[in-house]
Amino acid sequence: MINKLKVDFKNIFDKDCENVFFSPGRVNLIGEHTDYNGGHVFPCALSFGTYGVIAKRNDKKIRMHSLNFEHIGIVEFDIKQIKYDKNHDWVNYPKGVIKVFQDKGYEIEHGFDLLVFGNIPNGAGLSSSASLELLMAAILNDTFELNIDMVDMVKFSQEAENKFIGVNCGIMDQFAIGMGKDRCAILLDCNTLKYRYSEINMDGYSIVIGNTNKRRGLADSKYNERRSECERALANIQIKLNIKALGELTEEEFEINKELIENEIDRKRAKHAVYENQRTLKAVKALEENNLHLFGQLMVGSHVSLRDDYEVTGIELDTLVNIALNQKGVVGARMTGAGFGGCTVSIVKDENVGDFIENVTKGYEKEIGYAPTFYVANISNGTRKLG
Ligand code: GLA
Repeated sequence: MINKLKVDFKNIFDKDCENVFFSPGRVNLIGEHTDYNGGHVFPCALSFGTYGVIAKRNDKKIRMHSLNFEHIGIVEFDIKQIKYDKNHDWVNYPKGVIKVFQDKGYEIEHGFDLLVFGNIPNGAGLSSSASLELLMAAILNDTFELNIDMVDMVKFSQEAENKFIGVNCGIMDQFAIGMGKDRCAILLDCNTLKYRYSEINMDGYSIVIGNTNKRRGLADSKYNERRSECERALANIQIKLNIKALGELTEEEFEINKELIENEIDRKRAKHAVYENQRTLKAVKALEENNLHLFGQLMVGSHVSLRDDYEVTGIELDTLVNIALNQKGVVGARMTGAGFGGCTVSIVKDENVGDFIENVTKGYEKEIGYAPTFYVANISNGTRKLG
């Protein structure tokens, strides 16, 4: 793979490359739509992701090409002219990161040529965009010897997505991708950014990702809408309670104070945020005590809450999860990521994985009209230089 990318680089840019970088995708095991509510998340980095092959230039030009979007060709722009351009498509993500670095005062002294190739399915909710952002951050950091801490690169990448792309995402994706660790999920408190690694030791079980193959159509606008609903609910509660985020509330505190939330829909959204945060803490504890059965039940609880209270699932995700839960050897299943399409995550006994994929594919195809795609997750390290 890497050798092929080096050859491709030479063919496209007519010179040898200097370095190769890799940035993973991510899957979240539990803790959905809690990050921007100051709650906990429990994601891990995956072995598939985005590769970047780079060589410096002596001038001030930046040229980028993606093997995933060959029809767009080489996109070229000046280092001092970093502006959002709809026609530049995927390039806006790395551009946004360059812009944030510059705005923070980091000097990008000269241009470079960059070839990108990703094997994360696009639009599947496995964070191909955050993967690309961290890839760019790591490349800038290394190439221009900026000495930036990974957690800061994570924050800069989130800022690029918020301000340059205009998606008001939380920090989970960038954090999981930048800070990922082999065989571990990360328990991250998004309120404080305190985190710890938790070894995933599901002896005899696999994490199976199911892609509904439904593109996350209206995802960005609906996503921003959910954020506003939660912000309104928080503002209502703050009239009485001195809290900064919904994630600070226990279930009991929420129940006592929920009437403060004026709007019924906002109340449902806040309920999800509070309960999902507590569920995440319970789930991590269960997993660390080797209680996979309880972990699975909490995953199902998470899905139900995302379906009924947060309303971010949809027929495709619900169908895939329902069929998955009826299979032999399955301890739990839920949607993962922002929702509105994208992927599910299931915990399946190793010996049943083959039948699981076959049966769920058949059942889903029958109800939805097209097939899902499955990947057995390999948990890997975060964004890094390969050589
Ligand atoms: C998207 C966002 C994350 C997070 C999830 C939902 O992936 O980028 O910040 O909010 O949705 O948990």
